[in-house]
Amino acid sequence: MEKNYKRTLVTCALPYANGPVHIGHLAGVYVPADIYVRYLRMKGEDVLYVCGSDEHGVPITIKARQQGCTPQDIVDRYHKIIKDSFAGLGINFDIYGRTSSKVHEQNSSEFFRKLYDEDKFITRESEQYYDPEAKTFLADRYIVGTCPKCGAEGAYGDQCEKCGSTLSPEELINPKSKLSGAEPVKKKTTHWYLPLNNYESWLSEWILSGHKEWRSNVYGQCESWIDGGLQPRAVSRDLDWGVPVPVEGAEGKVLYVWFDAPIGYISNTQELLPQSWGKWWKSEDTKLVHFIGKDNIVFHCIVFPSMLKAYGDGYILPDNVPSNEFLNLEGDKISTSRNWAVWAHEYLEQFPGKEDVLRYVLTANAPETKDNDFSWKDFQTRNNSELVAIFGNFVNRAIVLTHKYFGGKVPAAGELQDIDREALAEIPALRASIEKNLEGYHFREALKDAMGIARVGNKYISDTEPWKVAKTDMERTATILNVCLQICADLAIVFEPFTPFAAEKLRKMLDVCICAGVDHRKGEQETVNTFKEGECAARHTVSAPSGADIAAMSASCPGAGKCVCLSWDKLGQENLIPAEHQLGAAELLFAKIEDDAIDAQLKRLADIKAEREAAAAAAAAEEAAKKIEPQKAEVTFEQFDAMDIRTATVLAAERVPKTDKLLKLSIDTGIDQRTIVSGIAEYYSPEEMVGKQICILANLAPRTIRGIESKGMILMARQGDGKMRFITPQEALVNGAQIG
Ligand code: 2FM
Ligand code: ZN
Repeated sequence: MEKNYKRTLVTCALPYANGPVHIGHLAGVYVPADIYVRYLRMKGEDVLYVCGSDEHGVPITIKARQQGCTPQDIVDRYHKIIKDSFAGLGINFDIYGRTSSKVHEQNSSEFFRKLYDEDKFITRESEQYYDPEAKTFLADRYIVGTCPKCGAEGAYGDQCEKCGSTLSPEELINPKSKLSGAEPVKKKTTHWYLPLNNYESWLSEWILSGHKEWRSNVYGQCESWIDGGLQPRAVSRDLDWGVPVPVEGAEGKVLYVWFDAPIGYISNTQELLPQSWGKWWKSEDTKLVHFIGKDNIVFHCIVFPSMLKAYGDGYILPDNVPSNEFLNLEGDKISTSRNWAVWAHEYLEQFPGKEDVLRYVLTANAPETKDNDFSWKDFQTRNNSELVAIFGNFVNRAIVLTHKYFGGKVPAAGELQDIDREALAEIPALRASIEKNLEGYHFREALKDAMGIARVGNKYISDTEPWKVAKTDMERTATILNVCLQICADLAIVFEPFTPFAAEKLRKMLDVCICAGVDHRKGEQETVNTFKEGECAARHTVSAPSGADIAAMSASCPGAGKCVCLSWDKLGQENLIPAEHQLGAAELLFAKIEDDAIDAQLKRLADIKAEREAAAAAAAAEEAAKKIEPQKAEVTFEQFDAMDIRTATVLAAERVPKTDKLLKLSIDTGIDQRTIVSGIAEYYSPEEMVGKQICILANLAPRTIRGIESKGMILMARQGDGKMRFITPQEALVNGAQIG
């Protein structure tokens, strides 16, 4: 059931501040959310866009320990990197807060306290691992041992990274504390739990009956959690990094990171809008949308809503929780620990001015319904064959020709022909489809249709060939270029959500501006964002109190009626740019990406892969080397005594031609001088063997190998991985000394 909301609150999953963000995060959460927010703003809707760093949790403490610094140092460093990456990509949250802030500590403490005072928690005593030397409880990640599934060393108490098995610390063989190396002991501890089971039927009603329109991956996960029966979930942890549990007797305990993080959305709103935050979180007129990755579904659909329900006080619930699947990179899972990723901050350094290309490619390939793949070749092709060849090429031809034939003034259109009308008529149809898709969170499809408008323009200008018509008919040329420029204006509107940098550049070329939307970044002083700096000769802003009528505010803008103001509602309408309007200078919207830039990225990934494969091969060989063959069948003393084993010295050695493994050795056995052919060429060069004292089985029946008679066998020790070494007496002896 579609509700009529007055405003939209968009939240994006708070990224952990223990590493930079990569293309998987961007494609899964931040780029789609940004498209959605920019679209709503273009429509003049009131939107608040909230995100921030998630600065608690065990991985941050582990990273700090590894790097010999404090958790605060870690979160300070990554908060800045992440914040700058978002800004660099045009993802401009109204606030990008932090869960280590004072406001958040207060807010999340108060949240816990109210639930505690109202008996909404239960407590449970359990036995947990404790480090008797470091005198602290150990999170699962702090316990390492041998994986019970694959035998790998260094498996964590929650997971073996080698075989991917989910583990519990109890399952680890030979568990050790990562802190002190001590053997952990079990110790009793008490924690607070939110009894999710109490909310089961309410959740079922709200989601399973009430939100059948949610994406199937989201709905399906909720269904399986609810149908599987919900259990109480611990909301506190024994840890020294986080928001302290605000009750007596809770020393050494903090709020579980997944309890405090979602409250961070509220805290960040409070920080930005200390007076008016309530209207965003506690009004049925607000549409709340959480953009998240698929690994966050249970927390946003089951746990956080149950927390809000338990809290009461009018908190609203999400209207939708669009969640994407995962993005792979060049066919392999993105992995932070394996450095298999394209990092946002590195991309921004390596591809300056190409922020839109990444946004475009990640949207065109968005993993909306299934896991998807990012490849650098596809990135290059989409840039060169779509953004440059279609969108950029069309705009460039239209604007350059207008400058050439009409001094950059929009020429008036004469009577339209069918081809003109048909091209223009395609745009309202595409607009309807784009809107439907954006409102249904199908950003990939929406982008296809936006590109469809560029295709219409590109085909139109190719079919009408104004550069040829100009030789004979300037009036017709004027009409064609007028139509082209109207389509350019459509593109300046429709691409604002997807490729905002290019859209802004295009508006500058057309000398038009965007006139809609509220900028909440100034906090309580909300501002109608009529023009962006440098975009238009005039720069108007209208301040208004929270809750003012946006449409009325836009109309009262001093620029209204004077500038060419575009907004979403104009998309596909006639005459967006009036005749005689002076255009700005033509610039290229997109530049081609050459092979060397792509090759450099592919080489970087190939190097990472080669390094990883070499490390894996070394580890496998190390494991194999340890493999001990079972004992052979028993022999009698007589059988052993029958073997004539002696010391001998290699006099000469050469490779057996056309073989990789065989050496022909001339041996002084003390008894005689003879030839032995031995399969050791992989391990020793002929030069290495000459002069070495070895042990041989002297009375082995002769065999002919590659036409050479071999008399005896060199004794070698062989490991599980096949590595061999000859046996030599501990001290030089005469040749022919008997062994046994
Ligand atoms: O998965 C993550 O990266 C979490 N830090 C997301 C938290 S979302 C919210 F609840 F804060
Ligand atoms: Zn394992």
